[in-house]
Amino acid sequence: MDPQGSGHEPEAAPQRSAQPRVLAVAVQKGGTGKTTLAASLAVAAAEAGERVTALDLDPQGSLAGWGATRENDAVAIDRLQPWEIGQLPEILDILAQQGTTLVVLDTAGSSTGLAPALKGADFVLMPVRPSRLDIVAARPTLQALVGLGLRDRLALVLNQCPPQPSPRTSAYAAQLRALGVLAEPGINHRVDHQDALAVGLGVTEYAPTSPAAEEIRALWAWIDAKMRVSDAQP
Ligand SMILES: Nc1ncnc2c1ncn2[C@@H]1O[C@H](COP(=O)(O)OP(=O)(O)O)[C@@H](O)[C@H]1O
Ligand SMILES: [Mg+2]
Repeated sequence: MDPQGSGHEPEAAPQRSAQPRVLAVAVQKGGTGKTTLAASLAVAAAEAGERVTALDLDPQGSLAGWGATRENDAVAIDRLQPWEIGQLPEILDILAQQGTTLVVLDTAGSSTGLAPALKGADFVLMPVRPSRLDIVAARPTLQALVGLGLRDRLALVLNQCPPQPSPRTSAYAAQLRALGVLAEPGINHRVDHQDALAVGLGVTEYAPTSPAAEEIRALWAWIDAKMRVSDAQP
């Protein structure tokens, strides 16, 4: 993490700034769409008025690689090395002084060492594909988050859903909704997501009027509202 590397200019006032909200994208399985959703949600949140810093906690560095190909600074992007995760509270202080209002954490497909980062999150989004294997694989992460006191600050989002109606996807959505852990809307499998990330864009930048962009904007609105309700609770 290079605090000077942020795209946001420092605030003039030296006093302590309000802490940014933290949205973590995490689930203990690779390929479910964590990086894809973290990138496009970070951009959508910036378009909605947040000053966003996206931090790549995954040693693979996919999000940072996406950031390196970006040509605008709508979102500040940095990497956090595994040994820096424990310093996240201090890093949030620095980002607050630089004007960041929202931090998006993209994480690796393993929860090892992530607890200090997840514990301080305002919300944890867990992308899963609408398959039994993915949903079962999400359980250890879910249990770990509940153990960290995040039961009311987490949700699974069904990602890479078939664009045509699927009874199985609807059944999974109904089960998760009944448990109160479903983020909505689900995100369909669309090549716009792949094409956007390939050229360093969020999907709302790449194809602003596409259904993929609309789904991402709606998902950010859902998460934003949910975070505000959670933050208002003691
Ligand atoms: N909604 C989606 N539509 C189409 N492809 C997607 C979608 N979400 C993710 N993908 C693709 O799935 C693969 C894994 O996504 P990625 O974001 O790298 O997952 P993770 O970070 O969880 O490992 C990538 O090839 C990505 O382009
Ligand atoms: Mg990833």
